[in-house]
Amino acid sequence: MATPSTDWKEVVSPGEEARFLGYAEYLRDLQRKRRPNDRGLHVKANLGLEAELVVDQNLPEIARHGLGAKPGKYRAYVRFSNGGAMRAHDKANDLRGFAVKVVGVEGKKVIPGLENARTQDFLCINHPSTAVRDADEFLAIVRAMQSPLLLVPKLVGSVGLGRAFSIVKRAAGELGSKITSGATTSYYSAAPLSWGPYAVKVSFQARAKPEAGAKQGDSFDFLGEELTQRVKHGPVVYDFRIQHYLDPQSTPLEAHDVEWQAPWLTIGTLTIPQQDAASPRGRKVVSFVEAASFDPWHALVEHRPLGNMMRARNHAYRLSTEERKAAPEPDGSEKFD
Ligand code: HEM
Repeated sequence: MATPSTDWKEVVSPGEEARFLGYAEYLRDLQRKRRPNDRGLHVKANLGLEAELVVDQNLPEIARHGLGAKPGKYRAYVRFSNGGAMRAHDKANDLRGFAVKVVGVEGKKVIPGLENARTQDFLCINHPSTAVRDADEFLAIVRAMQSPLLLVPKLVGSVGLGRAFSIVKRAAGELGSKITSGATTSYYSAAPLSWGPYAVKVSFQARAKPEAGAKQGDSFDFLGEELTQRVKHGPVVYDFRIQHYLDPQSTPLEAHDVEWQAPWLTIGTLTIPQQDAASPRGRKVVSFVEAASFDPWHALVEHRPLGNMMRARNHAYRLSTEERKAAPEPDGSEKFD
């Protein structure tokens, strides 16, 4: 059995920095045309909630880096979202987002100018890998989706017939997965980040299982409504887990369409405590989370994002949050009463 290795390497393709900035500008221009006050992607929030992250004590060396070396209980926020650029019915095929902002995290952060920020974000989706291999394919599909009737020919034009076929087939399966509750769904960073000298992927594994025969609601916003009801009556809990890079074959760093074949290690617990999201206080939390900016680069230097998707995101989130005038990073002193 392979063991976690520190021998991982990022492969930066020629000219990618300028290309990725161009992608971020393209997304920002779409956002500007549509609704500049909304996010560029993941526009529809299902709900924004307060949470608590516990990082376990006495973790093994492979986990004891960055946040893993700072055991304790942290205040956190979670934004559940649909991945699309439009506010659609929750039954519509889509990816589901789960963005976590951990607050009160001491230590140097990655983004120049934000070194003293006190936040560590983890942005996750409901699949462990993506249908697209890299940021170039990601943008090719976003561009093709601007004219749905020409989606396939446009995608073929950008990525070639073989890749277009594979992306469309996988995307149809992934976007079509029928989630009945955000509380019984597990979420994955799908893209890697560093964990001290290691490279990892992160996951929040739902403790609650879907009830037998659970069906999707009929209402336009059923995912948010279901979560609101659920957390009104009790907490929702996820295991906080990491999965280490082993070798280029089982855990490729730059090919995001390959699910990593490596064991998961539980390093803590994310709890969304019982709360009333519909109360005046709950509504303040919802607005706060909506105005916040979740960004994988809001990270400790020990958790620098890795791989081409993450490098492309280093431009995209900054432009999107600037455009919509997102709130500055919170410091943990937020009060909602
Ligand atoms: C594995 C890859 C990715 C994952 C897991 C992911 C996940 C997410 C999530 C969960 C959100 C919602 C954040 C929130 O609730 O505020 C989000 C927003 C966003 N994503 Fe990604 N994403 C990925 C790749 C990308 C790529 C490659 C780009 C573009 C190059 C991109 C551009 C954006 C933008 C512009 C937003 C809106 C940012 C804002 O205004 O706050 N994402 N993403």
